[in-house]
Amino acid sequence: MGINTKLLDCRDIQTSHELFTKAGEVIRKGGLVVIPTETVYGLGANALDKNAVKNIFAAKGRPQDNPLIIHVYDSGWVKDYAKNIPDVYYELCEKFSPGPLTVILKKKECIPTETSGGLDSIAIRIPQHAVAREIIKYAGVPVAAPSANISGSPSPTSVKHCIDDLWGKVDLIVDGGNCSVGLESTVISLTEKVPVLLRPGSITLNQLEQVLGTVNVHHAVLEKLKVTEQAASPGMKYKHYAPTAKITILDASKEKFVQYVNNHVEIGTFALCFEEDVPDLKVPYVTMGRYSDINSQANRLFAALRELDDRGAKNVFAHCPLKDGVGLAVYNRLIRAAAYNEKHII
Ligand code: TXA
Ligand code: MG
Repeated sequence: MGINTKLLDCRDIQTSHELFTKAGEVIRKGGLVVIPTETVYGLGANALDKNAVKNIFAAKGRPQDNPLIIHVYDSGWVKDYAKNIPDVYYELCEKFSPGPLTVILKKKECIPTETSGGLDSIAIRIPQHAVAREIIKYAGVPVAAPSANISGSPSPTSVKHCIDDLWGKVDLIVDGGNCSVGLESTVISLTEKVPVLLRPGSITLNQLEQVLGTVNVHHAVLEKLKVTEQAASPGMKYKHYAPTAKITILDASKEKFVQYVNNHVEIGTFALCFEEDVPDLKVPYVTMGRYSDINSQANRLFAALRELDDRGAKNVFAHCPLKDGVGLAVYNRLIRAAAYNEKHII
């Protein structure tokens, strides 16, 4: 494939200073750089350079109307790219930035329409990962970065996932180790009268409500958008996180889950399950951690979906996680991976 991709090992932050300046320079000059963040790896480019941004869409195979998140170093940068910023934005920053939170604000003219997917708003995030922060600082420009996967496939949580998807399509891939959160950031819009949660993440609805008061949850968080409906967040309408295998979510107790799976064994059947399910299962499996350990499920879900493909799974029964707190984010990704195919077993 076209580009001569280089891998930069930045896992040791103390010794990587020169590499950060190099990665920052490649971004500033219009190149594509895969960077680690605490959520998932991002495919970064200069958000102010429309040609660089077009290259992001081409490398990912991403639909042009699906806008990008811009990543900035701190809240002091935000007024250069957003306007009509409400005071609560800065209150959110005080609590959750840097961190896995993306806020939608009205955009300023300097943001090209390529970056905002033609919308008059912009998604802004201040990541926490030290490597991302150093690279943004040296780039000196806002870094547009969608998740560093081929559009439609599970988001990358390790450098191997990025290499599998984007080697030969980007200038640099920066290794910063495995992502600690493992699911993409929480996305909240402040452009309406009442804030709207567009994508759940590890910063929970409850935490946001403590700062913002009432928060509306967009119905697409839990349900499929109707074909005729306009998406508040264009990413909602596209196929997502989908492995090759067909996934069926089973909303069931441990006993019922195991019983159902053991009664439906075919060639290529796998379970995507919790540690507690393992002893009685009669099929190969990938676990997401213990049932009560939602952070581990968040951390392992995307890697598990990729592993199922690597192991040739054709038909996967996934044990439904808890649906509140961070569990809402895990469930939101899983129902998309399963194309909304869920069975309740009582
Ligand atoms: O954790 C993350 O957010 C990762 C890392 C790399 O920062 N990035 C990420 O980007 O997940 P992406 O492009 O995969 O997801 C961005 C989501 C999409 O669903 C997109 O439609 C939505 O944010 N979005 C972006 N700009 C928007 C806007 N102006 N209004 C509404 N939704 C927007
Ligand atoms: Mg994505």
